[in-house]
Amino acid sequence: MFNVILFGPPGSGKGTQAARLVDQYGLLHISTGDLFRAEMGNNTPLGRQAKDYIEKGELVPDEVTVGMLENRIDEFPNVPGYLLDGFPRTVAQAEALVGLLRARDQEVGALIALDVEEQELISRLLLRGQSSGRSDDQDESIIRNRLSVYRQETEPVYNFFNARGQAFTVNGMGSVEEIFSRLSRQVDTLKK
Ligand code: C5P
Ligand code: MG
Repeated sequence: MFNVILFGPPGSGKGTQAARLVDQYGLLHISTGDLFRAEMGNNTPLGRQAKDYIEKGELVPDEVTVGMLENRIDEFPNVPGYLLDGFPRTVAQAEALVGLLRARDQEVGALIALDVEEQELISRLLLRGQSSGRSDDQDESIIRNRLSVYRQETEPVYNFFNARGQAFTVNGMGSVEEIFSRLSRQVDTLKK
């Protein structure tokens, strides 16, 4: 199995690139943000629990997010690998991920971060907000909060995997095609 974390701030293109990467490599795409939005759409207890955090651009508590991720992994045990998009968002989530994969005789193959300039992130998110219907993409102050949560709580996850020799950065500026070819070159190198 080859498990990849696609990493980067909100608006860095994780979802867009994940859709292409799973096609190319046969991985299972797990977006914790998409899972939360589906739960909210169905008004489940989990969705109701997550809603307030998501609407403010805050992080849902680690236990909730890790439990949801673990359930998803166990629903699909026989895939060539997982492509994690938007998870882990904290060092505690990263530690939990390593532990839960280890308990299943698996491991993280690599973390690949998309590097995008801050101003570009904000314009991409506001543009997405016009079509996605996501309220957290429509308000610049919520977007700025998400970026600040990212810098404070999520960026250390890069250092966590970097210390294990498992973190890589790809330039996330440019066209979808250009970025995809950089990412797939990186994945090909890692799989060799
Ligand atoms: O990944 P995405 O940007 O779609 O996530 C949307 C929101 O879901 C985040 O801003 C956050 O409120 C919540 N989330 C979270 N923990 C995660 C993933 C998403 O709290 N691991
Ligand atoms: Mg996304």
